[in-house]
Amino acid sequence: MLYDGYAIEKKGVRMKKNNYHLHFTLNGEEKSLEIEPGISALALIRDILDLKGTKEGCGIGECGACTIVVDGKAVNACLMFAVQLDGRSVLTVEGFGQGEELHPIQQSFIDHHAVQCGFCTPGILMSTRALLAENPEPKRAEIVKAIAGNLCRCTGYQSVIAGIEDAAERCRRSQKISKK
Ligand code: FES
Ligand code: FES
Repeated sequence: MLYDGYAIEKKGVRMKKNNYHLHFTLNGEEKSLEIEPGISALALIRDILDLKGTKEGCGIGECGACTIVVDGKAVNACLMFAVQLDGRSVLTVEGFGQGEELHPIQQSFIDHHAVQCGFCTPGILMSTRALLAENPEPKRAEIVKAIAGNLCRCTGYQSVIAGIEDAAERCRRSQKISKK
């Protein structure tokens, strides 16, 4: 039986239900909170921390809409437990630019019309960010591979790939990308 976030055992002893203390860095800010151990990283980000930029598509690791960057690697948030973020550095699309200023990757996507309905876009931006941090001069085949897990129903991918190629160039020029 649940009451105010506590489970009440038969003996009448109140056991705390939200019993995992999670501490991690989200978009450069320290976060420290109690969570239920079974929730996904996606539920934590969208439902508890209310960052709706990370999308939920399939929920089973097939579409890439939920892609976030954890310690520099692009991962599917729907396939991770929130507790796996403990002690790690997490980037979501909300942490992409600096205030009102768009990141060169975002600007490049706009300039190349790489966004239509936009549902897949946060995930593709995150995959691109991880790719360019690891490989600032990716070949076309490497770009295709990096976004292979991000499904888009609108753009046909050509504009996305062109946007990423240009974004790589802009990031090299502006040095606006790092492995963090
Ligand atoms: Fe996570 Fe589709 S919602 S991969
Ligand atoms: Fe619509 Fe990609 S822009 S799914």
